[in-house]
Amino acid sequence: VFLQPVRHYSKKAAINHVLVIGGGLMGSGIAQITAAAGMKVTLVDQSQDVLKKAVSGIESSLGKVARKQFGEDKEKADKFVKTAVELIQTTTDAQQPAQFADLIIEAIVENLDTKKTLFTSLDKAASNHTIFTSNTSSLSITDIAAATKRQDRFGGLHFFSPVPMMKLVEVVRIEGTSDATFDALFDFAKKVGKVPVACKDTPGFIVNRLLVPYIMEAVRMLERGDASAEDIDTAMKLGAGYPMGPLELADFVGLDVCKMIIDGWHKNDKAQPLFFPSPMLNKLVGEGKLGRKSGSGFYDYKAQQAKQAK
Ligand code: NAI
Repeated sequence: VFLQPVRHYSKKAAINHVLVIGGGLMGSGIAQITAAAGMKVTLVDQSQDVLKKAVSGIESSLGKVARKQFGEDKEKADKFVKTAVELIQTTTDAQQPAQFADLIIEAIVENLDTKKTLFTSLDKAASNHTIFTSNTSSLSITDIAAATKRQDRFGGLHFFSPVPMMKLVEVVRIEGTSDATFDALFDFAKKVGKVPVACKDTPGFIVNRLLVPYIMEAVRMLERGDASAEDIDTAMKLGAGYPMGPLELADFVGLDVCKMIIDGWHKNDKAQPLFFPSPMLNKLVGEGKLGRKSGSGFYDYKAQQAKQAK
């Protein structure tokens, strides 16, 4: 009887210090919103150069947020940026700060073995109470968590790009995730100003599981010659009310990213027709046509980009 309230109280995991590993596109966004919400952040990457770039990117992004929030009040805006930036520390060593972190969010390269190696070493270094999460888009959280002995304190926190703008976070449970861990992750997502949704550890979680097969179906439609790229995109924008057509979206996401995701899922579930690879997508990627970032994909952006550069 005496132990009950004490156990319940200790279950309320307070998250004050977050270790974000990977200072690229996603990691720097996650570090930014966590510090802006008043929590201490340690941001880790492999080189000081990347970390420097990450912090200056965060500072300028916070500046934009502050201008929106405080308008003409420059003093308040500057204070907001300064307070958040001061909460961020950077290092190339993940082990030492892991001892003090309440939550670890991994946002490194999308490679299962690299993530597992990292988590195995963090499992030894981190405190017992530390919750581990991955921001992976396409890998199984269960597979990543297998590298550790803390299944109950492991989950997925899947943010969307650009992190400071996109409101959604998918909070992913694996079989072993405890209720206390799940609740702490859900609360954390709210604290950083996001709307959390709960999902089991299925390929692509909710958003990408629906979005990637939809994009692939559009590619197959083009491949069969049922309709042109322009007409497929116009149809989905005007007929389904989507802001972007599926092929424009594929070019925006990156055709290499689409290919990597679908190939990974296909490897694990060969019978699922929604995960079949596409010869057209493979050919475009093979030719280095990766979408907007390479200047062409399903569409050609070179003229448009040259115009913008002028
Ligand atoms: P990125 O390539 O921009 O950043 C990854 C960073 O991790 C790089 O700066 C790299 O130097 C660093 N890194 C690699 N190995 C490391 C290690 N062992 N220790 C410390 N740092 C290491 O990649 P991005 O786009 O930020 O993606 C990161 C993760 O987030 C991936 O798992 C990806 O699937 C996921 N994700 C990506 C989204 C996107 O739109 N780009 C959306 C949602 C999730």
